[in-house]
Amino acid sequence: MVNKITVVGAGNVGATAAQRLAEKELAKQVVLVDIADGIPQGKGLDQWQSAPIELYDTRIIGTNGYDETVDSDIVVITAGIARKPGMSRDDLMNTNAGIVKSVAEQVARTSPNAILIIVSNPLDVMCYVAMKASGFPRERVIGMAGVLDTARFRAFLAEALDVSVRDIQAMVLGGHGDTMVPLISYTSVSGIPITQLMARDVLDKIVERTRSGGAEIVGYLKTGSAYYAPSAGAIQMVEAIVQDQKRILPCAAWLQGEYGMTGLFLGVPCKLGRKGLEQVLEVELTPAERVALGKSAEAVREPMAKLA
Ligand code: NAI
Ligand code: 2OP
Repeated sequence: MVNKITVVGAGNVGATAAQRLAEKELAKQVVLVDIADGIPQGKGLDQWQSAPIELYDTRIIGTNGYDETVDSDIVVITAGIARKPGMSRDDLMNTNAGIVKSVAEQVARTSPNAILIIVSNPLDVMCYVAMKASGFPRERVIGMAGVLDTARFRAFLAEALDVSVRDIQAMVLGGHGDTMVPLISYTSVSGIPITQLMARDVLDKIVERTRSGGAEIVGYLKTGSAYYAPSAGAIQMVEAIVQDQKRILPCAAWLQGEYGMTGLFLGVPCKLGRKGLEQVLEVELTPAERVALGKSAEAVREPMAKLA
């Protein structure tokens, strides 16, 4: 357990993330921050009142400012607007870039040693905005998307094969968008390569459904986007850091030559521990996967170049 974790943005992802943090008792205190008057205070109080039932001692409070967040160990940034039907993640860019910049600046001032977990979209570009605005090193700015994309892939595979989700190993790399790269060569069921268990055309359909997994949910919800699996993804990363688990998870990391790329955030296998991003793992890719990762990087660089 750490002393304090702040979640910025008390909307669907942020509030659900705060509740998950408390239920797992990952911090003594969880601070929920939002600009909306009364929303973080009301949600925080409601969550604290569920503590005697769910049996956690994590104290949750909500606020509109940063005084209560001082010296947070970890800050999860979910502030921003979410997609509605017909919108791509990149459509959110200008609005969310301004929000994430101002949040990261205030966090850097009040919690200079915090580890930032970015969730706001477009994810890979928002990680860059947060790193620039905070001035934090790459070890302390990590993006959540690969865990979510991989969870969707694993859930669809488990359903199709009628096996436990626990036995599906997979890794989805690349940017958080239509160009994401599910690594078929590393996908297995208890070590059995997926290609021995599933016809290629069925697998291809699941890959396609994974790529549009976020849009499928936006299509149902109409007023917003997914938040149960996204908040679970962010909290899995927080847990790996708090418990120094050294987990290998697909996360957006600032590349410094890995996979032959520099100067962008992209989903790659990362080791997460108490220091944050402790290592980017460079795994062998098939020629097709390498090409796909390169295309995904281009899809991240393009909106990045348009940042004001
Ligand atoms: P939401 O609309 O429910 O909540 C966003 C909250 O941010 C609102 O309560 C709003 O008042 C708040 N906010 C806006 N400006 C703020 C500021 N300057 N400071 C503090 N709070 C501020 O949206 P939801 O569903 O929670 O999604 C949040 C973000 O996360 C969106 O950008 C969404 O696209 C992204 N997302 C990313 C995922 C990923 O895999 N990386 C998955 C799911 C969502
Ligand atoms: C998702 O993939 C909207 O990025 C969000 O659900």
